[in-house]
Amino acid sequence: MKTPSAFYKPLAIGAPDPYRELPVRVERMIHFVPPHIEKMRAKIPALVNQVDVILGNLEDAIPADMKEEARRGFIKMASENDFGATGLWTRVNCLNSPWFLDDVIEIVSSVGNKLDVIMLPKVEGPWDIFYVDQLLAQLEAKHQVEKPILVHAILETAEGVANVEAICGASPRMHGISLGPADLAASRGMKTTRVGGGHPGYRVLGDAEPLESRAFYQQDLWHYTMAKMVDACKMYGLKAYYGPFGDFSDPEACEAQFRNSFLLGCMGAWSLHPTQIEIAKRVFSPEPDEVRMAMRILEAMPDGTGAVMIDGKMQDDATWKQAKVIVDLAKQVAQKDPDMGQLYGFDA
Ligand code: GLV
Ligand code: MG
Repeated sequence: MKTPSAFYKPLAIGAPDPYRELPVRVERMIHFVPPHIEKMRAKIPALVNQVDVILGNLEDAIPADMKEEARRGFIKMASENDFGATGLWTRVNCLNSPWFLDDVIEIVSSVGNKLDVIMLPKVEGPWDIFYVDQLLAQLEAKHQVEKPILVHAILETAEGVANVEAICGASPRMHGISLGPADLAASRGMKTTRVGGGHPGYRVLGDAEPLESRAFYQQDLWHYTMAKMVDACKMYGLKAYYGPFGDFSDPEACEAQFRNSFLLGCMGAWSLHPTQIEIAKRVFSPEPDEVRMAMRILEAMPDGTGAVMIDGKMQDDATWKQAKVIVDLAKQVAQKDPDMGQLYGFDA
C-alpha cells in the first residue's frame, strides 16, 4: 500500500489534486440512458431537472455492434447539454473487453471536464482501481481536466465481494460502490434469473402446528452483500448504492428493495425506467415524520450528550448521532428539492 503522504498526490504531472473529501451531492438515483438511441438523447434536457444523476450506459444492454455508436452518442449528449447541478456519469465497458480503453480515452479527451464519475463494472480487486486511477491521471493531465474524475465500482463478482474493503481503499478517486445483483448472481452460481429483489423459494419455514398452517417467511437474498458493502464504503467515507431492479411491472417490490437498502445505509439506487425515478426520490429522501422526530432529539440534547426521554423512548449520545445522520441528509435533500424542505418543516 502507498504511504499516507503519497496517497493524495496526483498520479501524473499536471493532473488535478485528488479530493480529500467527496463533494457533497444528493445522488438518490443514477438514471441510465442508452446513448446510441437518438430518441433517448433527445430527452436529456427534460431529464436534467428530474433526476440527480444521468448516466450514459456503454456496457451490458448495449449490443456489441452498437458499442462505438453508444460511445459517440455519450460524447454528443455530454457536449450538447448543460447538466447544471445534475451529475454526469458513464458506465464504461469492463477492463478485459475490447472497448474499455477507447471508451476512457475518447470520453476523457473530448468531455473530461463535464464528466463527474466513471462507473466501472466487474471490479475484482484493488488492482483494477490502481490501473484506472493511473490511466485517468495521465488522461486528465494530457487533456487539462480541471477536477478529478471519480470512480464508482460495481460489486458484481464473488471475487469483488471478497475484496470489497480493499477496493474501497484503493484510491482517493473512489466515489462508491453499487451492488450488481444480476452479474453477482451469475458469478456466485445463485439460482435466480431475476435482476435484484427477493425470490419466493428463498425462505424459512415457521415452526407452528398444525402442519398445514405453518408459515413461510421469505428472506432477503441480498442482505449479506449489502451489509458487507455498506460497511466497506462507510469505513472509507464512500457512498453505497443498491443497483438495478429489473421487474418494471412490480413497483412495490422495487420500492421494498430500494427501502431495505436505504435503511441499511445506501444513498441511492439505479433507475432503469422512468417510473423508478419517483420511487427512488421518495425512498432515498428521509421520511418527514422521521426527520421531525430526529429534529426533536437534536433540540432536546443541544450538546449531543446526556440522556432524555421523548414519547417514552430513551435518547442519548448514540441516538443523537442517529438523529444527526437523518437531519443532515434531510438538509441536503431540502437544498436540492425545496418541496421536501417544506415537508420537513425547514424554514425556506
Ligand atoms: C448490474 O450491472 C448487474 O449485473 O446487476
Ligand atoms: Mg452487471
